[in-house]
Amino acid sequence: MKAVEIKKGIYWVGGIDQGLEDFHGYRTQRGSTYNAYLIFDEKIVLVDTVKHYLHDEMLARISSVIDPAKIDYIVSNHTEMDHSGCLPKITKVANKAIVVASPNGQKGLGKHFDQEFNFKVVNSGDSINIGKRNLQFVLTPMVHWPDSMVTYIPEDKLLLSNDAFGQHIASSERFDDQLDFDIVIQEATKYYANIVFPFGAQVKKALQALSGLEIDMIAPSHGIIWRKNLGEIIQKYKGWADNTTEERAIVVYDTMWGSTEIIAKTISNVFINKGIPAELLNLKKNHISDIMTKVLTAKYICVGSSTLNNSVLPTVAAFLNYMQGLGPKNRIGLGFGSYGWGGQSIAQIQEVLKSCGFQLLDSIKVQYVPKRQALAELSAKLEKVI
Ligand code: FEO
Repeated sequence: MKAVEIKKGIYWVGGIDQGLEDFHGYRTQRGSTYNAYLIFDEKIVLVDTVKHYLHDEMLARISSVIDPAKIDYIVSNHTEMDHSGCLPKITKVANKAIVVASPNGQKGLGKHFDQEFNFKVVNSGDSINIGKRNLQFVLTPMVHWPDSMVTYIPEDKLLLSNDAFGQHIASSERFDDQLDFDIVIQEATKYYANIVFPFGAQVKKALQALSGLEIDMIAPSHGIIWRKNLGEIIQKYKGWADNTTEERAIVVYDTMWGSTEIIAKTISNVFINKGIPAELLNLKKNHISDIMTKVLTAKYICVGSSTLNNSVLPTVAAFLNYMQGLGPKNRIGLGFGSYGWGGQSIAQIQEVLKSCGFQLLDSIKVQYVPKRQALAELSAKLEKVI
């Protein structure tokens, strides 16, 4: 386990979590990394740690370049345990280290760990001189927790951005120009959609705060480091934070006996015939976190369910609940479904889409198996309003 030099005197010393499949409900098919960084100057600084079970890996990487006991500062950019999980252990080894955190970081770390740390609390605009370099701190509350902050090193034009600009990818490559860029951007998109999406307003503030800084490398706390495509990812974040959508539809559904699926296909065809790309997403075959990646930029969100026990199917309930929590805005919603007698599912879907603030199209509700005539009629009606 070796440290990887990312800039002269600055090393990646993180952990690679190849087997990670789930990150609080987010399916992580490609695993993840927890990126910690070690800075060599007159003072030795560790920025963030890794999940608790990767402590030995992080320690081995640090030990490949320095005795960990020599660490002077440990910057905790974020309290969540994928980044702070090793603080109790590493502060036993680096026992003279000062833990640098935001005011909320100090509170959060105190509540997470039954241990006192030797804290230095910093606010936006504060900096710590470590020799030739200065560590500058910008608080970025809610990107992704109230305690979050980023660390900027002007002498290296390096932004250690913690969760922002991350992706869940467990790779041996460290930089965006070393991996298939389609994979990198796809995972960065999924990460934003499933982690950062609710905090668009705070992302805009953070981007504003960082806009005056000279940056030629963004090193997040998950996945690869941006050194080639910085402009592209920053532009993407701006668009996502603004809830900018594309003229595109997703038709998300589950079906009991196939009738709701027939309606889903009909709706999809109406969009396609109008020249609007549409994607059918059966909830039995697509994970809700992958669907959220598509919600991130789709203008039309159509959701269908049969009625079961006076309600939506469980898969649809899970999706609606998940999407509602992630808070997409500025979209057009459409609830649809087939039913036998009650038909409550369709109104319930519309209610959730309305609570998301979506503009609603008239719902589509068909009893039992939709007949050709009914499908033609709903197609004609839908065609007129999209
Ligand atoms: Fe990667 Fe919010 O922790």
